[in-house]
Amino acid sequence: DGGAGTGAVAVAHPNIALIKYWGKRDEHLVLPRTDSLSMTLDIFPTTTRVRLAPEAGRDVVVLGGRPAEGEALRRIVTFLDLVRHSARVPHRAVVESHNTVPTGAGLASSASGFAALAVAAARAYGLSLTATGLSRLARRGSGSASRSVFGGFAVWHAGRPGQDTKAADLGSYAEPVPVADLDPALVVAVVDAGPKAVSSRAAMRRTVDTSPLYEPWAASSRDDLTQMRAALLRGDLQVVGEIAERNALGMHATMLAARPAVRYLAPATLTVLDAVAQLRRDGVGAWATMDAGPNVKVLCRRLEADRVAAAVREAAAGGAVHIAGPGPGARLLPEGG
Ligand code: PMV
Repeated sequence: DGGAGTGAVAVAHPNIALIKYWGKRDEHLVLPRTDSLSMTLDIFPTTTRVRLAPEAGRDVVVLGGRPAEGEALRRIVTFLDLVRHSARVPHRAVVESHNTVPTGAGLASSASGFAALAVAAARAYGLSLTATGLSRLARRGSGSASRSVFGGFAVWHAGRPGQDTKAADLGSYAEPVPVADLDPALVVAVVDAGPKAVSSRAAMRRTVDTSPLYEPWAASSRDDLTQMRAALLRGDLQVVGEIAERNALGMHATMLAARPAVRYLAPATLTVLDAVAQLRRDGVGAWATMDAGPNVKVLCRRLEADRVAAAVREAAAGGAVHIAGPGPGARLLPEGG
């Protein structure tokens, strides 16, 4: 429509990292210390509407029907400030967002949330950005959101350290990763849908600052990425799964060694991990990954996902279990959609 629109609606899906993002080198620009790689899901979308409110003196943010406040509001206003600055449009906005996933439970709600907000806000403020530009913008809201701009598998480049601000910002974005036919599924076991006690932001900072295991994990994560990209290209789900599981367990080891320790893994998490190990002994390809929460995501073949889900459901003791496949990238919905 040319120029600044007055409103836009976008939808985005969460992504689950198989090579984790854990640790920033620049807090303000949200630049990571290592590259990461994820699969965007086809479940749990976030839908976000942004309308400019030229008359208003402040932004209004409504999340799931309730006015946002505190830290959640502050993060979104800071993000809108960045969009306003880039677009040179001063107007405040009304933001309405609906998540279909529990928020703040390590289920990537911030990834789908900031990817949808980036796409809707860019359009509403008349910023015309490429997918790469949208990925850089989403990164500023939440690092993992840079990957949810893309569907399927995506790699988020850390970019090169030691550059000036502009070059550093330009160098860190996600892009799609070429993969062979894998027919993958992620079985999501929600063992606890409550919000986490420590934010991923605070936990990352503490890990980088105090954990003696952080640097060794970051170094091995670089090798994990190289090997995983090769395994994705040749369609070797077993190697992809093995690398994903060791990369995630290593990330949690860095946190357990932080001072004081950050522990997201709960007893139910370990029960599910035992079930995954038993599946492998029974000849089913299944590999687990966990984020900043106790919930477990199990990578497997789509054809075996029902069997994996049944085993995990039994172990998850009452927790909900969902089966996800590779999902689409963030996109605008038709006006009013
Ligand atoms: O984007 P953030 O700040 O919510 O961090 C996400 C970190 C992990 O989910 C634990 C790993 C990842 O790469 O998604």
